[in-house]
Amino acid sequence: MDFKSTIRTIPDYPRKGIMFRDVSTLMADPKAFGAAVERLSAPFEKFEISKVAGIDARGFILGGAIALRLKAGFLPLRKPGKLPYRTFSESYELEYGSDALHMHVDGVEPGERVLLVDDLIATGGTAEAGVKLLRRGRADIVSAVFLVDLPDLGGARRVRNMGVEVNALVS
Ligand code: PRP
Ligand code: ADE
Repeated sequence: MDFKSTIRTIPDYPRKGIMFRDVSTLMADPKAFGAAVERLSAPFEKFEISKVAGIDARGFILGGAIALRLKAGFLPLRKPGKLPYRTFSESYELEYGSDALHMHVDGVEPGERVLLVDDLIATGGTAEAGVKLLRRGRADIVSAVFLVDLPDLGGARRVRNMGVEVNALVS
């Protein structure tokens, strides 16, 4: 499956100089979406993943599908002001701004085996915040998986340097 050809690129979005990799076109293609979910889930079939942590917002689409495929629960890591109960929070810098992620304080059990999922890793700031949140809950992060890695921005290296395995479908 040629996943790259199903991802649309929009130059200068949301700011001048950013090449925006639009995965909505991959997700709209049932063959590509199904194959992507299968390719990212299959390596973890035997790992007894009990929860998939998906990052707001595009990571929810992919993470929900992977959770179902792995018969795991789903844990949303959300932007500020969205989770109703007590949360841990971590702020981070983006390629185009800054933001924060929150996780419910009881979102994971200590030692629970979790897969971290997002659509794309660029600078790795978002994924790093996700790793920090899951570690505050003392989860065992089995891997972080993405549809797209933008290697020039160094995010995958940054997350690997935190001791977390990274898997991506396309670079
Ligand atoms: C995008 C993408 C990742 C993040 C990657 O999300 O979905 O979460 O940027 O960038 P980084 O590796 O440099 O941190 P965005 O914050 O644009 O939010 P969205 O999913 O709500 O569109
Ligand atoms: N998130 C951060 N950088 C991005 C990019 N270049 N394309 C799509 N999503 C992104």
